[in-house]
Amino acid sequence: MAEPLTLALPKGRLFDQIQDFFATKGIVFSVEDRKLVVSDRDDILRIFLVKNSDLPTYVNHGIAGLGICGDDVLAESECQFFRLLTYSFGNTSMCLAGKEGSRPVALDSKLTVATKFPEFTRRHFNKRGVPVEIVKLNGSVELAPVLGLAPYIVDLVETGSTLKANGLAVIERLEDIKVRVIANRAYYKLRYREINALIDRIREE
Ligand code: PRP
Repeated sequence: MAEPLTLALPKGRLFDQIQDFFATKGIVFSVEDRKLVVSDRDDILRIFLVKNSDLPTYVNHGIAGLGICGDDVLAESECQFFRLLTYSFGNTSMCLAGKEGSRPVALDSKLTVATKFPEFTRRHFNKRGVPVEIVKLNGSVELAPVLGLAPYIVDLVETGSTLKANGLAVIERLEDIKVRVIANRAYYKLRYREINALIDRIREE
């Protein structure tokens, strides 16, 4: 029997959605005892549970041949991948947010923005010709305007409840963030038949 295909999945809320969706396609796996390497019931896949932002590194090095992650993660990576599929679940928006009621005076004056997504933020505002100073954080970005580290944040907004709970509001929706199935290019060329069969199976109707 062929070696299972290797797939990196992000820990966190997207993981549950992928797990549920794969189950509807008959690819069933579960994670017990904080394991980080798991196989599906039929041993088609060897799945690695990685931190969201590390996922491109694992796929780029070919440790995982395939991966599923959002555009937010891909935007921070310099690596090139094949994008094989886009899902309709797990979509979020990258937004500029600040304290409720606050608005940037004008988008031509310099913005100070705290974010986990410096590359996305730099590229986005550069394209619009808006000067931006970036304060890089690794999480709990909503604290920055509350505590006065930076007046604005660029962050993912899904339900909006984290912003609301911290007295913040969306100033501008910058981009839709979609979930993609990606492949290491060499791995795809090597195992394209099996990968194409898998992609047909994990396609949405
Ligand atoms: C993401 C994002 C926001 C939150 C938005 O963070 O960075 O903080 O989710 O979701 P909501 O609009 O549904 O409230 P995550 O949960 O990944 O945690 P982190 O801040 O520790 O990275």
